Amino acid sequence: MEGKKVILGISGGIAAYKSASLIRLLRKAGAEVRVVTTRNALEFITRITLETLSQQKVYCEVFDNENDYTSEHISLTDWGDIFVVAPATANIISKYACGIADDALSTSLMAFNKKIFLAPAMNYKMYDNFALQQNLHTLKKQDVLVIEPPEGFLACGYEGKGRMEEPENIFRFIEDFFKRSNSLTGKKVLVTAGPTHEKIDPVRYISNHSSGMMGFEIASEFAGRNADVTLITGPVSAFWTHPGIKRINVVSAKQMYDSCIDLFPGFDIAVMAAAVADYTPEKAAGSKIKKEEEKNMVLKLKPTKDILAEMGKRKKDNQLLAGFALETENELENAKKKLQKKKLDMIIVNSLKDKGAGFKTKTNKITILDNNQQVKRYDLKSKKAAAVDIVNYISKLLD
Ligand code: CTP
Repeated sequence: MEGKKVILGISGGIAAYKSASLIRLLRKAGAEVRVVTTRNALEFITRITLETLSQQKVYCEVFDNENDYTSEHISLTDWGDIFVVAPATANIISKYACGIADDALSTSLMAFNKKIFLAPAMNYKMYDNFALQQNLHTLKKQDVLVIEPPEGFLACGYEGKGRMEEPENIFRFIEDFFKRSNSLTGKKVLVTAGPTHEKIDPVRYISNHSSGMMGFEIASEFAGRNADVTLITGPVSAFWTHPGIKRINVVSAKQMYDSCIDLFPGFDIAVMAAAVADYTPEKAAGSKIKKEEEKNMVLKLKPTKDILAEMGKRKKDNQLLAGFALETENELENAKKKLQKKKLDMIIVNSLKDKGAGFKTKTNKITILDNNQQVKRYDLKSKKAAAVDIVNYISKLLD
């Protein structure tokens, strides 16, 4: 964990005293730790304890002369690789899930766009509460890692589920996360995204509904784990991409084919999320086709080359190739055929039958099949969270 930057959020629960051990474990493993607390947290553990153990100033007040920057929450969140809230009270969990930012901890959490871990700690009745459970569910769907509290003796005298996981176990979750992300450091990853446009004439083209979002999220997730990412994308409306991503814009299936085939030999991993057109006009008209000339328009199409299948043929043993399958029926059966025919290591299936999956949505419901006959189904979640699942799966296959 040498050099990793951990933001530790502490909210106001009795388990706050255990945060001291967590800081020690992280620092001993070589991580840097900066602490942000709620005001109530400092009723349970002193600022001086936290500052001594972390060797850093504690951030608690948004408007404080002692802050290094006027927008401390932004500079802090730019700095951190991960954000761990331990203990996470019902209040901070629910504020974060509902987008409330009214103190140093909630504001920092809201501004943080990397991996977040929450270690809930509260009375078992509070933990059972419908609103809290709903909020935890919302956060899990956004790929927040919730370290479930074990059953046991609670400080309030009751027994049940609600005590914060022991610092040693929270530390193991964090260590495991960094180990998994390290396995992708420096790996050369090629990702494709978006639709292609097949020209009919200078003003018209054939395409599909792909927004490119799934491919962009996958590329960003790899880049966030320090992989060396190249994204070949068809025409999409501008997306934010991770600053480390090299982006190559193409328009047609032919251009995407040429770029992919040219680049593939230099890559360790390729994930082909683009919705490449299967057919293209035999001949594109050089000038606009006029209505008067073509009463009943007949377009002659020819098949495009299957980029993924060609890459499968050329794939070396040390390369990992992942494809997508968008299906409307017999999903698994069709995907299995594609996996074998295109010589892939894994295939990510989405079905247009699933509500919220596929094109034009911000969510996806995926199933991953690999060539070890493993099948893993995932719940409906944001495309960002689905990208995390895909990258985790690839990382495991590499191990
Ligand atoms: N693909 C490709 N080149 C093509 C068509 C598809 O590389 N000319 C890739 C896509 O990027 C995706 C996978 O193949 O990773 C599967 O695409 P899909 O449209 O689901 O299947 P097809 O192979 O085109 O078969 P069909 O349309 O008959 O289902």
